[in-house]
Amino acid sequence: MKAFVYRGPGKKALEEHAKPEITAPTDAIVKIIKTTICGTDLHILKGDVPTCQPGRILGHEGVGIVDKVGPAVTAFKPGDRVLISCVSACGKCVYCRKQMYSHCTTGGWILGNTIDGTQAEFVRTPYADTSLYPIPEGADEEALVMLSDILPTGFECGVLNGKVQPGSVTAIVGSGPVGLAALLTAQFFSPAEIIMIDLDDNRLEMAKRFGATATVNSADGKAVETVMKMTGNRGVDTAIEAVGIPATFELCEKIVAPGGTIANIGVHGQQVALHLECLWDRNISITTRLVDTATIPMLFKTVASRKIDPRRLITHRFKLDNILDAYDAFGNAAKTKALKVIIEA
Ligand SMILES: NC(=O)c1ccc[n+]([C@@H]2O[C@H](COP(=O)([O-])OP(=O)(O)OC[C@H]3O[C@@H](n4cnc5c(N)ncnc54)[C@H](O)[C@@H]3O)[C@@H](O)[C@H]2O)c1
Ligand SMILES: [Zn+2]
Ligand SMILES: [Zn+2]
Repeated sequence: MKAFVYRGPGKKALEEHAKPEITAPTDAIVKIIKTTICGTDLHILKGDVPTCQPGRILGHEGVGIVDKVGPAVTAFKPGDRVLISCVSACGKCVYCRKQMYSHCTTGGWILGNTIDGTQAEFVRTPYADTSLYPIPEGADEEALVMLSDILPTGFECGVLNGKVQPGSVTAIVGSGPVGLAALLTAQFFSPAEIIMIDLDDNRLEMAKRFGATATVNSADGKAVETVMKMTGNRGVDTAIEAVGIPATFELCEKIVAPGGTIANIGVHGQQVALHLECLWDRNISITTRLVDTATIPMLFKTVASRKIDPRRLITHRFKLDNILDAYDAFGNAAKTKALKVIIEA
């Protein structure tokens, strides 16, 4: 089969690869229909994710058709159409029993990281019963690819942890696919204002179309003043960090209102300053989370009923044969205006 393989920092290739086999009774082999590229895949290609070793097939998102199942799989059979969660969950360990699937002691985020992933014609999915979701007849499969990772990430790590409330004021720092997913799902709770902050005017323009009530380009270094002016000097009830660098987390520390919450989503590779000298008396909360994808079933229903349309995050489409072009488009988003790219296997 064809597969996209990480070959070490800065090196990648579309290669011929052996088709995966069932190795545990709880496995399924899924024939990929559609997959996509995540910002995290770009981190891996830069060499930022040491758990992912050269030779690994990348990808942790996608929809497909079950090709084979192991003898212990009872919820799926060959021919079933499925959504693949980016997180594999055994369903039995202490963390899975708390719906903290990201910390599953034998699963978690392993697809396209410590085991081969979805950017291929076939993938082996461990713990199929509790890591795959059936796709209802007639569902929009492209839209559902957004449910493998970015929609649950924006919703769980940003909106739920950030306690977005009716009538509250939310700021989302970072208007990439994950920040925009938080923007779409924050609207379930009808906040009065959602202020989107980014450096890229094109992404801010998208954010307006997705429901932002205001946008701030922080390139001028005046984002704190601007947000304070917009909020009558109070700040925001929820500050969602969706970039993953010190500057944007510190911006959240400066714009959070008394009693508010900073909900971190970004993957941080560097030390970030926590200004307790400014925050100790402000009654705030700070949350962190690795996406659990526990909300996939709920998000399924919101997509089916058209409460949200994650298809709007898709800007480009490629065949698996041209996945190197897909990486070029996704990796140069400022130029290509790419958000999510669909890759058809
Ligand atoms: N916690 C989790 O489970 C989880 C899951 C998936 C992704 N993530 C992380 O979420 C973050 C966002 O993911 P993404 O795919 O949307 O990334 P992305 O790189 O596509 O988007 C980041 C956005 O931040 C903007 N930005 C960069 N520097 C900025 C600055 N100084 N001020 C304001 N905006 C700035 C960029 O213009 C871009 O639009 C990443 O760190 C990713 O690794 C976390
Ligand atoms: Zn991802
Ligand atoms: Zn588990």
